[in-house]
Amino acid sequence: MKMRKLGKNGPEISALGYGAMSFSDFYGPTTDQQSYAILRACLDAGVTHLDSANVYGMGRSEKVIGQFLKDNPGTRDRFHIATKASITRDEDGNRCFRNTLEHLESELDKSLGKLGTDCVDLFYVHRRQAELPIEEVAGHLGRLVEKGKTKGIGFSEIAPTSLRRAATECHVDAVQSEYSLSVRSPEMGLVQTCAELGTALVAFSPVGRSFLTDTPLSFETVQDIGGWVGANPRFQADTYPANIAATDPFRAYAAEQGVSAAALAIAWVLAQGPHVIAIPGTRSTAHFAQLVEGWNLTLTPEQLARIEEILPIGWAYGDRYSTGQWVGPERYC
Ligand SMILES: NC(=O)c1ccc[n+]([C@@H]2O[C@H](COP(=O)([O-])OP(=O)(O)OC[C@H]3O[C@@H](n4cnc5c(N)ncnc54)[C@H](OP(=O)(O)O)[C@@H]3O)[C@@H](O)[C@H]2O)c1
Repeated sequence: MKMRKLGKNGPEISALGYGAMSFSDFYGPTTDQQSYAILRACLDAGVTHLDSANVYGMGRSEKVIGQFLKDNPGTRDRFHIATKASITRDEDGNRCFRNTLEHLESELDKSLGKLGTDCVDLFYVHRRQAELPIEEVAGHLGRLVEKGKTKGIGFSEIAPTSLRRAATECHVDAVQSEYSLSVRSPEMGLVQTCAELGTALVAFSPVGRSFLTDTPLSFETVQDIGGWVGANPRFQADTYPANIAATDPFRAYAAEQGVSAAALAIAWVLAQGPHVIAIPGTRSTAHFAQLVEGWNLTLTPEQLARIEEILPIGWAYGDRYSTGQWVGPERYC
């Protein structure tokens, strides 16, 4: 089992974490019982890192984790728990980002209440508030460490230059970014800058939101789910079939190697650097077992080269996000 240090000062955590956005109905309906089964599977497999956020299921993700910890005394210390804040609504109900100390601290306090813990292990600014200098925001996060409300700090979806600026104020333990064979943009500086500064790169959506698995979401399911996934440019009628066709050879190669496609996708992410952590999400313990398979898989240079041939940079059809999903008023989380 690969364990990795969370940045240069952090604790050892499992290189495979679990993305608890799937404790909400984001990718389809789920039950809290399914979520408890996943948390039990994390403990059994030795997956220690849990990734949540105040907005996942409007707090449901954090509440499920909190209830599990309460029902299973002694388990809090077996997990390294990360959460996030900053995505909120303005007075007109539009999506916006707030990075003031007051907002971050009051949201973190609410998260601690839902999780039933005095302190989280890692607290991220989920999205930057563009008009606030990132050095100032890093200072806010440093204050929350001093107050004992979080042990580590991080940012999500920031540029390498922003990370450098934040690091002049205090050490940044982790940067979270979408990173997989479907999204290679972190290789344009973020992977390298994280390595240089001793910051962990936490790769979200590492199985490409299901495209890099043996059973991608069907187009009909995406239509039924609607919401964020239904509006995502890669799941539209004019892109979805091309994305399935492009990933079919990856599935075939995984089968040839005797592993699941999800395992191959996770192993590929973890091969991108000793500072990279992968946080896939799933509602299913059977799917979770495939993700664990990938955690234990070390790819050879030949396998990595073959994967690169099958899915070269830029293979995916459709943008990663719509403009609205990135900054706009859409109401999905
Ligand atoms: N910082 C940010 O802005 C941000 C944004 C997005 C996500 N995240 C974090 O990253 C985590 C993971 O990202 P994600 O959930 O968007 O993407 P992901 O892990 O790449 O994909 C999740 C999707 O893949 C499916 N899946 C997973 N394993 C599978 C398997 N073995 N076989 C078949 N299907 C499989 C899941 O369906 P099933 O449930 O049916 O298995 C779900 O539809 C989130 O939970 C969240 O913690 C952070």
